[in-house]
Amino acid sequence: MERKTFYITTPIYYPSDRLHIGHSYTTVAADAIARYKRLRGYDVMFLTGTDEHGQKIQRKAEEKGVSPKQYVDEIVAGIKELWKLMKITNDRFIRTTDREHEITVQKIFKKLYDQGDIYKSEYEGWYCTPCESFWTQTQLKDGKCPDCGREVELTKEESYFFRLSKYQDRLIKHIEENPEFIQPVSRRNEMLNNFLRPGLEDLCVSRTTFDWGIPVTFDDKHVVYVWIDALSNYITALGYLSDDDSAYRRYWPADVHLVGKEIVRFHTIIWPAMLMALGEPLPKQVFGHGWLLLEGGKMSKSKGNVVDPVILINKYGLDPIRYFLLREVPFGSDGVFSNEALIQRINSDLANDLGNLLNRTVAMIDKYFGGTIPEHRQEGDFDGDLRDTFAKLPATVEELMDRFQFSTALAEIWKAISRANKYIDETMPWVLAKSEENRPRLAAVMYNLAESLRIVSILIQPFMPETPPKMWEQLGIVPDSGAVSWDSARKWGGYPAGAAVRKGEALFPRIDIKKELEELEAISAKGKESPADGGAAGTGDQKAGETGGLITIEDFAKLDLRVAKVLEAEKIEGSDKLLKLRLEVGSETRQVVSGIAKYYSPESLIGKSVILVANLKPAKLRGVESQGMILAASNDTGLVIATLDGEISSGSRVT
Ligand code: ME8
Ligand code: MG
Repeated sequence: MERKTFYITTPIYYPSDRLHIGHSYTTVAADAIARYKRLRGYDVMFLTGTDEHGQKIQRKAEEKGVSPKQYVDEIVAGIKELWKLMKITNDRFIRTTDREHEITVQKIFKKLYDQGDIYKSEYEGWYCTPCESFWTQTQLKDGKCPDCGREVELTKEESYFFRLSKYQDRLIKHIEENPEFIQPVSRRNEMLNNFLRPGLEDLCVSRTTFDWGIPVTFDDKHVVYVWIDALSNYITALGYLSDDDSAYRRYWPADVHLVGKEIVRFHTIIWPAMLMALGEPLPKQVFGHGWLLLEGGKMSKSKGNVVDPVILINKYGLDPIRYFLLREVPFGSDGVFSNEALIQRINSDLANDLGNLLNRTVAMIDKYFGGTIPEHRQEGDFDGDLRDTFAKLPATVEELMDRFQFSTALAEIWKAISRANKYIDETMPWVLAKSEENRPRLAAVMYNLAESLRIVSILIQPFMPETPPKMWEQLGIVPDSGAVSWDSARKWGGYPAGAAVRKGEALFPRIDIKKELEELEAISAKGKESPADGGAAGTGDQKAGETGGLITIEDFAKLDLRVAKVLEAEKIEGSDKLLKLRLEVGSETRQVVSGIAKYYSPESLIGKSVILVANLKPAKLRGVESQGMILAASNDTGLVIATLDGEISSGSRVT
């Protein structure tokens, strides 16, 4: 029988910034779906790539003094490497600078022009270069880009226009009649109410004021507007309008375009209108997920969040990062990324719950039975309940995966893991092991645990590519055998008879959270990994713009900044970064721990006046209590503490 196909895409990334953990969010989610669908037997096409043209890229290249192509080549190589490191299983990687893509975009543009859907006129209005989007005067918010809150530029140039307005009614009808088309529902309503129903204007689709783009074949002072170029990737990658369009015929329409919420508008208005004009079917779904944000403001800096995925993966391993991204935040909502939350998840869910279950099970089978569970087994209390939990699990996970509810799917798997851990406490194998006559019961308990782990190892495959093979190794299961097929998870009893367990390393070593956060703080203090605006684990683009990065005078007044005088300073044992300071603050003294040991000797600080954040919640660093923090400036090469220009008594307020 012909296999069912599944076509999934991520957006194509701008190769203009270093990728941070927020970028990998869309790609990891798409990868989990692609892996899941393959496990379910689908013929999957998973596409990702890079969006390399446009004014933004051209400007960045100019700043660096290299050609746009040189500039993107280097970044694209890094992006490809990152996806490899993250074990992303994309079937295709498209670059919009690929020759075949460029040719097809030119064909699309010409076709739309020839049939009258594109016409020449003049554009006069505003342009947001970071978003590469056009705005009318009335759409601007306080004179800024309504999407990202940044400066827009007045643009007046001869342009080609696409008759977007012509497709407005058909689009509204399509969205109303196909509730699955835009997900989640909130995004669907936003598109209908804020953009479609108020009315669409024709869209400017070419530019003449720069040249880093695909030339319009019949008028070569124009380059194709970068969003028309970029959106086309979803079909040019499949050979649309080329000599070999078999992949297009096989996989189009896409089952889902996964995108961040700020670009839902392009994917649910411009893109479907283009497809309607081309006479091609529309994608079945556009799913707009939320953003990963950093805790705002100063606190996040002092917590030292590192958002470089490469650093995080090298430190903690790939699976914990992938697990965290998909577990922490319901897919569709915004969520906060912090290193502390990441480490807590690793310790509780991975090291404690899953790691311990495997470790204890393998150790007991080894100790009580020399590694292989005997065939003679005796049913007992709690078995039924454990089995029921696992019997229901695969169908629940499937249902949630089909709706991209990764976080809930993982939560369900972890409930079952907890059930299995509880089963150990209930059955008390160490008591059973005391008498010979309980051996058949002990064997059943061990079997049920190994079987629970087998099912878990199958179900976590979409999320965690590295852990399942490690589990099979320890459980003595042959990979690629029937015992680990997706379908076999639905049937209790697939743990192979005669399998011999092998004790191995802990799957997820526990992390000393205090020590680790201190280390991360030192990394981010070097200033490289925190985004400059401190707002989002995002491109920094739109996300900081949500509040414009501004605080009110009331917000500022919440800070209690005081002049403090250093009375004593000493190194903290076992740390080369931290100093313990005793500060005089008016009539009070305070103990503060500060990460400045690399830049200041203890002696040099004594008698100095510094600025203390006096109402910061106390925290312990290396077990030493810190009652506030002192202000310091840092960059890549150094750090200096903030001092005062003149004598003033300690305890004075700084405002
Ligand atoms: O928009 N949290 O590219 P891009 C979650 N080239 N997702 C985030 C994020 C964060 N903090 N930061 C970025 C573009 N993303 C266009 C797409 S498609 C035809 C053209 C996500 O590099 C973002 O939401 O700015 C988007 O889905 C993806 O990264 C690429 O963003
Ligand atoms: Mg962006």
